[in-house]
Amino acid sequence: MKKIVLFILTIVGMLVSCSDDGNTYKIAVSQCGTGRWREKVNCEMLAAQLLYEQNAKVEIVNAYDDTQRQIRQIDSLANTDIDLLVVAPNESAPVSDAIVRIQKKGIPVIYFDRKASTDDYAAFIGGDNVEAGRTMGNYASLLADTLIQKGRRPVVLEVTGAMSTSPAQERHNGFAEVMENESGLEYVMAEGDWTSDKAYEIVMNQLNTGKHPDIVFCHNDGMATGVYKAVVETNQEGHIQILGIDGLPDEGLDYVTLGHQVGSYVYPTHGEEIVRLALNILSGRPYERDNVLNGMLVTPENVGLITLTSRELMAQHADLATIHDKLENYFGLYNSQHKILWASLFTILMLAVAVFMAIRAYMQIKRTIRQRQTMNEEQTLFYTDASRRIIYTTPEEELPQPRSQDVLFAEKLKEAIHKNMSNPNLKMDDLGEELGLRRVQLYRKVKALTGLSPVELLRQMRLQQAYVLLGSTTKTVAEIAYEVGFNTPGYFSKCFREQYGKLPTDLREVNDNTEEDSFKEIQ
Ligand code: FRU
Repeated sequence: MKKIVLFILTIVGMLVSCSDDGNTYKIAVSQCGTGRWREKVNCEMLAAQLLYEQNAKVEIVNAYDDTQRQIRQIDSLANTDIDLLVVAPNESAPVSDAIVRIQKKGIPVIYFDRKASTDDYAAFIGGDNVEAGRTMGNYASLLADTLIQKGRRPVVLEVTGAMSTSPAQERHNGFAEVMENESGLEYVMAEGDWTSDKAYEIVMNQLNTGKHPDIVFCHNDGMATGVYKAVVETNQEGHIQILGIDGLPDEGLDYVTLGHQVGSYVYPTHGEEIVRLALNILSGRPYERDNVLNGMLVTPENVGLITLTSRELMAQHADLATIHDKLENYFGLYNSQHKILWASLFTILMLAVAVFMAIRAYMQIKRTIRQRQTMNEEQTLFYTDASRRIIYTTPEEELPQPRSQDVLFAEKLKEAIHKNMSNPNLKMDDLGEELGLRRVQLYRKVKALTGLSPVELLRQMRLQQAYVLLGSTTKTVAEIAYEVGFNTPGYFSKCFREQYGKLPTDLREVNDNTEEDSFKEIQ
């Protein structure tokens, strides 16, 4: 039975374990917001799940630019079974505490694109935002130079992202560094919030108050669309040059191609590198703590080539993501079929075990019934005529009987009684000694087999032997009485009548008559 339980536990263990792929790490991604740039990086991370030696299960949660929501999401992720958190903090300072908390739970954190204020993180991966600001600053000053050469003092307006975020701070630092060294232009900075609406509002205010910017640098291409809208509405097309950052197909790259913007900057995404870094950390492989990805200036001259390669790369990532989805479906199907197979095997095994146990129980019952029957038969042998024959009849008349221990004992008992019955002082102790039993054991055994006590059995056998002798010999009643162990012929006759309902002499007469009749017939 122990073996069966062990076996069942093994099967259950196999069923449970086959649902869990031990080679897959769970990577949670806390995205601060939406937009094309984030959609692209999400797609790249999802496409890279099966790309490396270890598989990654990437789960993305979005805070939709709401810092408090992001804090709640990180805190609840800390209570799940994720292996690592990739986070783009919506705002540097407020999210830091939640990042410290999750790290204390033993979950390593990767910053991507944005950083929080805490230095407590496993690794960073993203573009160099200071460099991005600097590059755009140099490009803006180049554009400004053309105007300066025409004798003008151009106004360069910087519309930043939300300054509570690290990219806005760093892009501003890089841009301002260049601008502050330019004496031939006027540099103005206005704080935006990464949205096109806010950028539109800022530029409209400038224009309405008579401040006409010549060059507007926005911290992303999304904000540049708001500026372009304001430019169109105020008929300033061709008079205000717009720059942005992100450089994505269907966004900044297209705006440069269309001439809405004079430049952009490819702010690198590389979701596949984020997944690779996460897997290196999780599998204990060496990795760099700070991983800076290269960006690139986009101008009307190179926008065609950049768009082509970007589109190709994006299409490949989209294909990879589709393949991954399909594989997930197949794996899902394979896993459920695998489980169904195991469950069916388990059911079949359980049925086999049940049938086996039922057969075993049936056999056991049959064996018990057979044993009882044999016991009953053996007992019956002592109650019925047939049984008496074992004890009372001569060996020639004996029927073939099963040689069970009880039958053997009955034979020995019969022999011992026959041998000793002529002794009128025969004691049960003597009989027991001859059979190797104590008086009590003899009593129990004889009682169990015959229903009689040894004394009663002895008396019955004496009378039965006397019955046989009366019918088969010419010995006198007194002689027979003494021969079978009675002390007096009178007492023998009394017992005989009690047993057979007639006197020994009655039997003699019948025998005599029978003999006479036969004699007569012969004559
Ligand atoms: C999207 C975005 C990008 C920008 C980046 C900076 O949320 O605003 O447009 O380049 O974030 O973190």
